[in-house]
Amino acid sequence: RVLAGRAPDLAGRHVVISAGGTREAIDPVRFIGNRSSGLQGYALARTAVARGAEVTLVSANVALPDPAGAKVVRVESAHELREAVLDAARVGGAGDGDARVGSDGADAVVMAAAVADFRPDRWSDTKIKKSSAEPDPIHLVKNPDVLAELGALRRGALERGGREPYPRVIVGFAAETDDVLANGRAKLARKGCDLLVVNQVGEGLGFGTPDNAAVVLCADGGAVEIQRGPKEDLADVVWDLVAERLS
Ligand code: CTP
Ligand code: CA
Repeated sequence: RVLAGRAPDLAGRHVVISAGGTREAIDPVRFIGNRSSGLQGYALARTAVARGAEVTLVSANVALPDPAGAKVVRVESAHELREAVLDAARVGGAGDGDARVGSDGADAVVMAAAVADFRPDRWSDTKIKKSSAEPDPIHLVKNPDVLAELGALRRGALERGGREPYPRVIVGFAAETDDVLANGRAKLARKGCDLLVVNQVGEGLGFGTPDNAAVVLCADGGAVEIQRGPKEDLADVVWDLVAERLS
């Protein structure tokens, strides 16, 4: 695919993209994971580079070649992903929950990664052996919600009178199987993001497939429908909407 020839409308912009799926360790050889391939996040990274952006790609357990021209940060768990995203976006920091208000924050953060909602409450540092007894149950605890945290940090900075809180554009992804639009709208509001890409899962679409179909819900009430097509096309629509909001 030739991406050259596109106007570099993201030149001078720093964008942070998370891709792939987190793994939550049970012991040194086992984890709880998900089926995210990273294809959509990597397509977002390639298209952003092609449009002139400075790209940091936070990549969770993906078997894909590094996109040329992007800075790739590898993570495994939701906690590692959170650290890497907040660090790359330069929000949070000092541990005081304070969003930085300045010119060094990321212009946009796109959370394409499938982040585990839960993790086992304990981790065995040696391999768990089977024995004649019944296995112990795995108890789960909640992971941080990175997207919601980004929205809350920015909202806090705005309320304290920040002129231009970062990230200026926050984009989430959601895969919904039923009540797609209603669930998507509620999620957009709950997370405080500007755009939510709601994927239609099933019928040969979604995880691990080269194609995607989606509706992008906008916080201003609008919606953009994206017909089934390559993940690069969906990525370009996302960047169109991001560029519009940055200009
Ligand atoms: N997300 C996140 N941190 C989490 C979970 C999700 O940042 N712990 C982000 C994802 O990267 C995605 C968006 O939130 O961009 C929506 O994820 P989704 O799983 O659809 O939302 P949840 O709030 O976890 O709701 P659900 O109960 O449907 O899983
Ligand atoms: Ca979830």
